[in-house]
Amino acid sequence: MGVFSSGGVGIDLGSANVTICLENEGIVLREPSYALTLREDTDQLLAVGRDARQMLGRTPKDVALLSPIERGAVGNIELATALITRLSEKALGKRRALEKNRLVVSMSQGCTRVERNALEEAVRTAGARRSALLRSSVAAALGAGVPVEEPRGSLVVSIGGAITEITIVSMNGVAAARTLRTGSTELDEAIIRYIRREKGLVIGQRTAEDLKIDLGSAVRTPSLIRQKVTLRGRDAASGKPATVEITAADVHNAIRPPLQALVENIRDAFENIPAELAEDILPQGLYLTGGGAQLEGLSDRLGEMLGLRVIVDENPQDDVALGLCMVAASDRMMQKFEQSGCLIEI
Ligand SMILES: Nc1ncnc2c1ncn2[C@@H]1O[C@H](COP(=O)(O)OP(=O)(O)OP(=O)(O)O)[C@@H](O)[C@H]1O
Ligand SMILES: [Mg+2]
Repeated sequence: MGVFSSGGVGIDLGSANVTICLENEGIVLREPSYALTLREDTDQLLAVGRDARQMLGRTPKDVALLSPIERGAVGNIELATALITRLSEKALGKRRALEKNRLVVSMSQGCTRVERNALEEAVRTAGARRSALLRSSVAAALGAGVPVEEPRGSLVVSIGGAITEITIVSMNGVAAARTLRTGSTELDEAIIRYIRREKGLVIGQRTAEDLKIDLGSAVRTPSLIRQKVTLRGRDAASGKPATVEITAADVHNAIRPPLQALVENIRDAFENIPAELAEDILPQGLYLTGGGAQLEGLSDRLGEMLGLRVIVDENPQDDVALGLCMVAASDRMMQKFEQSGCLIEI
């Protein structure tokens, strides 16, 4: 693709991350969904994405670190627009501005009319040549290689930062869906609480997320006790700097309650699937996607509990953006998903 030609752009506007995929290039950017502004005047944008997140837990008094996307929906239109325009500029380069491209942005399943209007406005303001919203669960299915066109149901479970979507797709549409307003970030919060309670140490969100990614496991094994790290933080009682040793078994204990609730919710949704669709799913298995799907042992645990084969690709966090880009690049797909009610041109 030449520098001046237009192409398809997929932007997954997630609660935790913005991921951008370009036609012919693939995934080119993933940055945290944060904006840094002046506290008194949030129109004064200081930084977005990774540069903004660096300030997590260390913002001066007059500066605010904000998340424009909350629980999969636009909470702040201006800042969501800034995320789209600034990060797409970074991904495309200034010479290939968004106005020459066709943009498809993710829309979460459970979003209300008001939330959708806010998202539409943010995407319209970003000023692409043509733009559309596509249901994120359908985009995830496409990106994960699910046979969405076929007249049989396929089960897709997507675990993001703030939301979990359980969807059955069939004939380019959604046959059944359930959205849980909970996701992988809840595990980070459980780690913070546990380490404070059990070890007397106060740690920040970033440390908690690192612990989850590096040591977290959904299944208990004897070797967890041998994997350990030394953590620096603040003593909960005295407020003084302190160090504590944390094992993977500690992290497992910390995340066990919210994880148990999550997998039980997934099981509950699975058990309520209409009989014909359930028959389609049994031989195929379940497609697990989203950043939260990468938790060590989670696919095994879900598979065992549901008695299903679980399919996870190598980069489940990229699936939504990949699917959005596939649609942005194809007139035929745009039309098909518009007909099935999963895509809205704006
Ligand atoms: N290796 C890993 N193990 C466990 N969790 C992980 C791993 N990698 C990423 N995550 C978690 O995945 C979550 C982000 O996933 P993702 O990027 O799919 O969310 P999102 O699309 O921004 O959010 P949402 O879909 O809820 O709006 C974060 O909570 C992150 O900590
Ligand atoms: Mg997501």
